Amino acid sequence: MKLLSLKNVISSEQFDREMLEELFELSDKMRSISIKDKTLHSKIMISLFYEPSTRTRFSFESAMIKMGGTVITTENAAQFSSGAKGENLEDTIRVISGYGDVIVIRHYIEGAAHIASEVSTIPVINAGDGAGEHPTQSLLDIYTIYKEIKKIDNFSIAMVGDLANGRTVRSLTKLIAKNCKNVEIIFVSPDNVKMKDDIKNFLREKNISFREERELKKVAKEVDIIYQTRIQRERFKSIEEYEKARGIYIIDKEILDVMKDNSIIMHPLPRVDEIALTVDHDKRAAYFRQAHNGLFVRMALLKVLLEEKS
Ligand code: CP
Repeated sequence: MKLLSLKNVISSEQFDREMLEELFELSDKMRSISIKDKTLHSKIMISLFYEPSTRTRFSFESAMIKMGGTVITTENAAQFSSGAKGENLEDTIRVISGYGDVIVIRHYIEGAAHIASEVSTIPVINAGDGAGEHPTQSLLDIYTIYKEIKKIDNFSIAMVGDLANGRTVRSLTKLIAKNCKNVEIIFVSPDNVKMKDDIKNFLREKNISFREERELKKVAKEVDIIYQTRIQRERFKSIEEYEKARGIYIIDKEILDVMKDNSIIMHPLPRVDEIALTVDHDKRAAYFRQAHNGLFVRMALLKVLLEEKS
């Protein structure tokens, strides 16, 4: 199994098509794992979150517990780890990697997970590094596409919202560009949070067709997937800049009415107001199914990083 070559999960660029197919199969198996399957009973996961999280942290912790493992964690690493006393990240990681078997880290600095992996003696999983990447989100996203539209080639996707600060769209765009054939990507975002050049250049290098559009309603008519994202207030330097970006692209009945019947709406969540609550009842609203898929994908990842190497 090629997935077994993984030492850490830092970037979506680490994954090729063969690994994705293995991950889909394993994630499917995780859906029906027996309550008696305590594969990771002797393993300890350290979850170290310097930024808030609901889905990533709880799904990783739930994944570990479901497979019989144990979790050690802090409510808020920025406040309750010795980082608050001035300890640098490297020292923290050097020390805690002696206390467990895998570290799941979310940090506000881009590149933090990579730095952690360089000094850690155990596998490190990037659970989001600033505006950098969120590779496990992109894995559950591509798994959701596979489950919902039954293919990961020949589709069009609109990435909408805060594309400059959105680590989920960065990771997912790279994953699609590297692994999916005959795809079209359309970026729809406010002017001050457009997709950054590094990702656009990555798409050019891979010969992936992409364009930028302003009008969501026009794009909604043609795509198979709308991937909506939140405008990330916490990453703006001023409230004025945030206000310029928010409230422009909202998925509501008007957008639903023009979308194709077999299209889907995804969102990494949390949402604020960028998807109207009334949309939740539509069968095309896939975002809660997407969040649930995260549990199975993270179980699969923990299994390949921990069990087979024990
Ligand atoms: N999608 C995601 O990363 O959600 P959380 O911030 O709640 O973990």
